[in-house]
Amino acid sequence: MNYNKKSVRDVDVKGKKVLCRCDFNVPIKEGVITSDVRINAALPVLKYMLDQGAAVIACSHLGKPKGEIKPALSMKIVAKRISELLGKEVKIAESLDPVSEEAQQIAKNLQPGEIMLLENLRFDKGEEKNDPAFAKKLADMADLYVSDAFGTVHRAHASTAGVADYLPAVCGFLIEKELGTMGKALADPARPFVAILGGAKVSDKLNVINNLLEKVDTLIIGGGMAYTFLAAKGYGVGESLLDSEKIDYCKDMMKKAEEKGVKLLLPVDTVVAKSFPDPIDGAIEVKTVAADAIPADMQGLDIGEKTRELFANAAKTAKTVVWNGPMGVFENPTLAKGTIAVAQALADSDAITIVGGGDSAAACEQLGFAEKITHISTGGGASLEFLEGKELPGIACLLDK
Ligand code: 3PG
Repeated sequence: MNYNKKSVRDVDVKGKKVLCRCDFNVPIKEGVITSDVRINAALPVLKYMLDQGAAVIACSHLGKPKGEIKPALSMKIVAKRISELLGKEVKIAESLDPVSEEAQQIAKNLQPGEIMLLENLRFDKGEEKNDPAFAKKLADMADLYVSDAFGTVHRAHASTAGVADYLPAVCGFLIEKELGTMGKALADPARPFVAILGGAKVSDKLNVINNLLEKVDTLIIGGGMAYTFLAAKGYGVGESLLDSEKIDYCKDMMKKAEEKGVKLLLPVDTVVAKSFPDPIDGAIEVKTVAADAIPADMQGLDIGEKTRELFANAAKTAKTVVWNGPMGVFENPTLAKGTIAVAQALADSDAITIVGGGDSAAACEQLGFAEKITHISTGGGASLEFLEGKELPGIACLLDK
């Protein structure tokens, strides 16, 4: 996959109408946007284009309306919030149809330095089907397509890939940064290159493990998925989470690591409890045991102290670190120590540090470490598919440099 793509800096946007695909799929509770992270992330490219004298037609999906018009998922509230944060009017049509006559008219009359937002693209069935007719309607409003919705680049939808058949297509600042850091880490990493994977299930990360073993010097496995690896080593894992169908896969991956000379680090100790915390953040009685001594009636819920040190030391000596997935049930303060230790190790490291996936990204932000990480990916599913080495339709469609 070629990560060397043209960005909005490589083209002249002055006097152009620019269709800018953003990821404004923001969390909304009782009619209020509860996090501005995604809107703030899009502001630099929007400001840049407006300052350069472009007329910007921003667009996004919101939620999963599945081709139906659902007023609760209207973009009006998002337009209002962008307008507040940008300090500028954001025009939006009354009609809920994203390509209504009214929206097209607003786009037609949009002046340099002005911005509008289209209604929820997924209100139209053509969006997720990547219908060429819908893509063409979007494209016809503009002279240039700027893609900056990294969170959706793994989707071949009309607004994320289809429009590039009709317009010159370049990336915005967010995708440029994702390609420059994560793309570079995968294609030409500063070494030693260490990847830290966590999360609940091995089956969610099969292709990620396989692909990263081709690239890294050290692969660290923690979180719920580590217990299947420990079982593959012949250890008893008690009541811990186990993907029993994936034990052979784990054996294959351990063999592959050995053949490739990749160091595979697994937990050497684990924090166990009699049962999963209920409620998830409730009080829980735990103890730490060696990874090969998990009692039959207990389950591992976080990495132990020795493992925290082992993983942190591996991260400290690295030149590139990629981290995806928590080390334990980090929603619970007693079981968050492993995840905090990894976040701290990345924050303390001089290496290029890249964090992908909603949970690990949230952990870094909650702990106040975000500023100390080189790059926190804005994509959940997209960043995983990136790490799998898959061709991403929303990136493949952009012009090469
Ligand atoms: C996300 O929230 O991860 C992106 O906006 C993609 O949303 P989707 O999973 O509904 O395509």
